[in-house]
Amino acid sequence: MSERTFDQVSWFRNSSPYINAHRGRTFVVMLAGELLAGPALPTLIHDLALLNTLGIKLVLVHGARPQISERLAAAGIESTFEQHSRITDAAALDSVMAAVGALRLKLEGLFSMGLANSPMHNASIQLISGNFVIAKPVGVRNGFDYQHTGEVRRIEVDPIRRQLEAGNVVLLSPLGCSPTGELFNLNAEEVASSAAIALRADKLIIMGPQVRINDSDGQQLRELSPQQAGRMLADDQLQAPGLERQLTAACHAASNGVARAHLLDTGDDGALLRELFTRDGCGTMVTRENYETLRGARIEDVGGILELIEPLEADGTLVRRSRELLENEIQRFVIIERDGMVIACAALYPFPDDKVGELACVAVHSGYRKGERGAQLLGYVERRAREQGLQKLFVLTTLTAHWFQQQGFEAAGVETLPGARQSLYNWQRNSKVFVKPL
Ligand SMILES: CC(C)(COP(=O)(O)OP(=O)(O)OC[C@H]1O[C@@H](n2cnc3c(N)ncnc32)[C@H](O)[C@@H]1OP(=O)(O)O)[C@@H](O)C(=O)NCCC(=O)NCCS
Repeated sequence: MSERTFDQVSWFRNSSPYINAHRGRTFVVMLAGELLAGPALPTLIHDLALLNTLGIKLVLVHGARPQISERLAAAGIESTFEQHSRITDAAALDSVMAAVGALRLKLEGLFSMGLANSPMHNASIQLISGNFVIAKPVGVRNGFDYQHTGEVRRIEVDPIRRQLEAGNVVLLSPLGCSPTGELFNLNAEEVASSAAIALRADKLIIMGPQVRINDSDGQQLRELSPQQAGRMLADDQLQAPGLERQLTAACHAASNGVARAHLLDTGDDGALLRELFTRDGCGTMVTRENYETLRGARIEDVGGILELIEPLEADGTLVRRSRELLENEIQRFVIIERDGMVIACAALYPFPDDKVGELACVAVHSGYRKGERGAQLLGYVERRAREQGLQKLFVLTTLTAHWFQQQGFEAAGVETLPGARQSLYNWQRNSKVFVKPL
């Protein structure tokens, strides 16, 4: 096998977990107007068609800024901008409609390509557009009448879902209708983030040339929390107004239930596939998800740990620990921190002579359970224990036996505990002992 063929085979194998993870998910993908004017568009449409074939539910949102500007210039209409929004009067609205209409048709054409030697051969994909975006006027602000410039009022979720269920790709334009029958020129980024939030999409992906978030040293940032993104926006760290709109949309979506919002520079051929099917990706992701760190506890975490375990001590799930004891034993604790709050903890007490360790004080905040944080903590403690040369972990529990069994622990007798621990065993509490080999 040639090296190239081998690379292809291993690439395909490595991408299979992502193929499975993405199947049946809903992605809202925004294509900036600049991208629709560039030569990369047909290849990108092939990649989108491939996602559809792999069972991903796709909602596309297209931008139209450069195309609208071009038409306005040709019609001799000069645009006024307020807060980066175009004021759309009746004459300008005609140019907006013409530009958006032409782009919709262009995209329909590209999705219909099925030539025998093209990647879309045999891929019959229906691109559906309609009055899915309901708009309202921006109105008069700071004395400026925005006229036909509007904002998203709501997204027609059910009709869109029906199309997605039928395997169709839905196309939304930056143009919305109001219940009074008027048309409004909308910001495509706002349409995209509103659609992603309303549809509870798994991802919002914003694509375009130079959609790239760098730090102050010019290095691309790979992951941001909505808070970090918010700080960048507030500090005016982004030079291009387009990027500001795009990051605002990503931040808004990530703060309102969309697990991941990606910003992708389409200067890179295949950026979309790399972002979705390789571990490292190539864009910037705004997400709340990974804004959690699993780490060894420090003295300043004592207050947070106490807050987390107090209710569990009060109901008898955990044995009481004083602040003083926690301060003395803080290096035994591991925690999960989320946005500065301790949301989970566990402790490891080693008995080096017996080569065993006690897992204790396992707690996950009630608002964050069933997210495998308990299992993650355990994995981390197990690693620590192995590093310390321990061969077994044991735990004493009164109420959580089944959970520990699911994590690979087996019931054992009190006599199996290290001697030093046996003498401290509280017969009144009558905890069950469980052991897990490492
Ligand atoms: C036990 C605990 C740490 C699990 O944390 P978590 O992050 O929710 O754990 P995971 O997501 O890995 O596992 C969740 C699963 O464990 C189950 N589970 C949680 N507590 C359980 C218990 N006491 N008995 C049996 N199963 C339990 C959940 O129902 C869930 O099952 P599902 O996935 O089938 O719905 C958490 O429930 C907790 O803090 N409980 C109170 C404190 C406690 O009991 N600590 C142990 C003291 S020794």
